[in-house]
Amino acid sequence: MDREKAFQILNKYIKEPFYIRHSLAVEAIMKKLAERLDPENIELWKIAGLLHDLDEESCNWKEDMSVHGPTSVEILKKENFGNDILYHAILAHNPKCGYKAKTNIEYACLAADPMSGFIAAIAKGYPDHKVKSVKVSSVLKRFKETRYASGASRPYMLAIERTGIDLEDFAKLSLEAMSEIDEKLGL
Ligand SMILES: [Fe+2]
Repeated sequence: MDREKAFQILNKYIKEPFYIRHSLAVEAIMKKLAERLDPENIELWKIAGLLHDLDEESCNWKEDMSVHGPTSVEILKKENFGNDILYHAILAHNPKCGYKAKTNIEYACLAADPMSGFIAAIAKGYPDHKVKSVKVSSVLKRFKETRYASGASRPYMLAIERTGIDLEDFAKLSLEAMSEIDEKLGL
């Protein structure tokens, strides 16, 4: 599977720059997780992160959350891109579509999505808006404050523990991942 082709497809279906940046952030976290959990398939994990929200502008998820995920899979099949592992990882990131995560790449996709938004929210609270300024301890502290960035699902983030990686480790590698692309995140 070809990351460049995946990025072309992403840009064909997503026009809002915020979603492109969010997709890049999730891709970066998925890459770090793959290095630990599935080093033979790093490209596939990156692509799952990059394309997890592909249908954001192609379906009415605000009205019906169950279409978010399956519509991305339909688009990818139409584009003759991907395989079942990729499709299931994308479906798993939105349990409301009815598919439940059961493999490492699926738990990773489910957890990386809210973690990227959570870290972005914390970074935005700093004067320089840089992920580099965020400490692991701040992520863990904020995690416990249920009203802080409440849209970032704590249970989904905690799903990472099913892969054997604990929350602290996950926060650390996600911060590393996102700081490497700090300039592209536009926070
Ligand atoms: Fe997302």
